[in-house]
Amino acid sequence: MNPAMRVLVTGGAGFIGANFLNLLVPRHPEHEFINVDSLTYAGNLESLAKVQDSANYHFERVDITDADAVNAVFEKHRPDWVIHFAAESHVDRSIEGPKQFIRTNIEGTFNLLEAARHLWGENREGKVFHHVSTDEVYGSLGAEGFFTEETAYDPSSPYSAAKASSDHLVRAWHRTFGLPVKITNCSNNYGPLQFPEKLIPVMILNAQERKKLPIYGEGLNVRDWLYVTDHCEAIWTVIEKGKIGETYNIGGHNEKTNIEVVDALCTLVAEETGASADELLALKHFVKDRPGHDMRYAIDASKIERDCGWTPKETFETGMRKTVKWYLENTSWIENVRSGEYQKWIETNYSDRQ
Ligand code: NAD
Ligand code: TYD
Repeated sequence: MNPAMRVLVTGGAGFIGANFLNLLVPRHPEHEFINVDSLTYAGNLESLAKVQDSANYHFERVDITDADAVNAVFEKHRPDWVIHFAAESHVDRSIEGPKQFIRTNIEGTFNLLEAARHLWGENREGKVFHHVSTDEVYGSLGAEGFFTEETAYDPSSPYSAAKASSDHLVRAWHRTFGLPVKITNCSNNYGPLQFPEKLIPVMILNAQERKKLPIYGEGLNVRDWLYVTDHCEAIWTVIEKGKIGETYNIGGHNEKTNIEVVDALCTLVAEETGASADELLALKHFVKDRPGHDMRYAIDASKIERDCGWTPKETFETGMRKTVKWYLENTSWIENVRSGEYQKWIETNYSDRQ
């Protein structure tokens, strides 16, 4: 077991960060967890209701693009481990307005790297800066093959280009300054607490409300889906067992076309609500494609499996059923995140595609 650590988690009020804290804060009362989040549209403290009163959990509202505020929070809490989730994360929004992606994903990561470098100095023993990244940095695959840790970076969207840049900064701070870093690149996550702008929650909620199910292009793009807590466990495993300076790919071996995903969700929503599956499937609606839309993502996760002993627990079927049930049951969470700002986004994104 590790000694008591001060763990600074950025973006802990977002989808993956909140799932991570809900899982790890109760499991590790010996560690202090400090959630650093600016609470953008994607950050929601309601997602942390389970842990907000825990003695080993603290929240700091800090924007990572503000270097002085980042340095101050590092000085105050003096973290041993930094787990960096905070980012602008939605590809469609990055096409609509890339600037904030450059600021948060690149400049924000730079501020955190500098704060860690100055805090730790030469005292790097036991310290870890864990950078949470995406498989989208590798670009698009054809029909065959998988992304490995050696695949060359070839990002397509402003989102993935900004994440790729942040990965490069993290590696450079390791090679140049000796910062003790680890990087994970994960495939598409799904599960509870995902903001209803991404494919899975959009489809579940639209099917439940009998709204059209907007499928970009021909719906043949492939994603490799991983249940969110499997991703969280993988990150923790890499923090505990991964090597400094290494990169690990994380994936679920669940490659599906978008149509296959939407069909599966219609069937599950029908089963869970007693609706007719045919009625829901008839809501499928093909809309204008995303510019620069990557065709296929698929992860070779053999390095993390071999070196750290991680494997996913959920299958596509078990994870999707849990997810559908969660969205059907958690109506107040959904109502609260669908604020006026949310309605504006839905109009901007989908009216352009009709
Ligand atoms: P999300 O959009 O749901 O949450 C992002 C969180 O970061 C929010 O709480 C938000 O308030 C916070 N944040 C944004 N800008 C900030 C700023 N300037 N300062 C402080 N906090 C800020 O994202 P997510 O889906 O939970 O993704 C988390 C991380 O995992 C991201 O780095 C993303 O690139 C990576 N990732 C996501 C997926 C996926 O499928 N969602 C897959 C692989 C990797
Ligand atoms: P998304 O959830 O935005 O994740 P990413 O772009 O990071 O992979 O989209 C997943 C896939 O679903 C992607 O191929 C785009 C597609 N998609 C739709 O067809 N319709 C939608 O309304 C959304 C949000 C996504």
